[in-house]
Amino acid sequence: MNEKVHVFDHPLIQHKLSILRKETTGVKEFREIVGEIAMLMCYDATRDLKTRQITIKTPVAEAKVRVLAGKKLAIVPILRAGLGMVDAMLELIPSAKVGHIGLYRDPETLEPVEYYCKLPTDIDQRDVFVVDPMLATGGSASAAITFLKKRGVTSIKLLNIIAAPEGIERVAADHPDVDIYCAALDDCLNDHGYIVPGLGDAGDRIFGTK
Ligand code: PRP
Ligand code: URA
Repeated sequence: MNEKVHVFDHPLIQHKLSILRKETTGVKEFREIVGEIAMLMCYDATRDLKTRQITIKTPVAEAKVRVLAGKKLAIVPILRAGLGMVDAMLELIPSAKVGHIGLYRDPETLEPVEYYCKLPTDIDQRDVFVVDPMLATGGSASAAITFLKKRGVTSIKLLNIIAAPEGIERVAADHPDVDIYCAALDDCLNDHGYIVPGLGDAGDRIFGTK
C-alpha cells in the first residue's frame, strides 16, 4: 500500500460506517454520522500538527503546556457532499478558515464540472484539508487539488470517508505529495461510476434530495 494512503480501521469509525452504508439509514442519522466520522478522521489526520511550549498558571502552580504552533489551517469541502464533513471538523479546529469548491460529476463523462469557488485570500499560507465523503474516479478530488495548487497551496491532505481503488490511483498519480485519509477502501466502481459496495449518492443522502 502507498505510504501516503491511510485507512482508518478504528472500531468506532468502522461501526459508524456500517450504519452509513445501510440503505435503510435515513437522512437525519446519515448526516449526523457523516459528521461523527469526519470528526474522528480529523482527530487522527491532525496528529502531526506542530506544537510549541508555553508557560501558564493553573490555580495551583506554573505549568509548561503545549499549544498549536503550526501554519494556519483551512478546510475545503468539495460541494455538495463535502459540506457534510465541515461543521464537525470545525468543532475540533475552530480557528480554521473554510473555502468552497463546487464540482459536480457529469453523469455521462464522469468528468468534474466546476461551478463555484470561494477560498480564503491567504489560502496559500494554510495547511489545507480537502474533504469529500466519496473518492470514486478521483476526478473531482484531483481537479480540486490542482486548483488549490494553482492558488499557491503547498500543503494538502485529502479526507474521504469511502475511497475506490481507481480514485486512490488517480490522486496518487496526479498528486503524489498529497496524503489521502479514508475510513474504507472499497472494491471497485460500477458502470455508472458508483463505488461498490459504497453507500450510494452521498450528496443525495446528506441533503435528502432523492
Ligand atoms: C460526488 C462526490 C464527489 C464525487 C466523486 O459528488 O461527493 O464529489 O461525486 O466522484 P469522482 O471521484 O468520480 O469525481 P457529485 O458529483 O455527485 O455531486 P454532489 O456532491 O453535488 O452530489
Ligand atoms: N459519488 C457518490 O456520491 N457516490 C459514489 O459512489 C460515487 C460518486
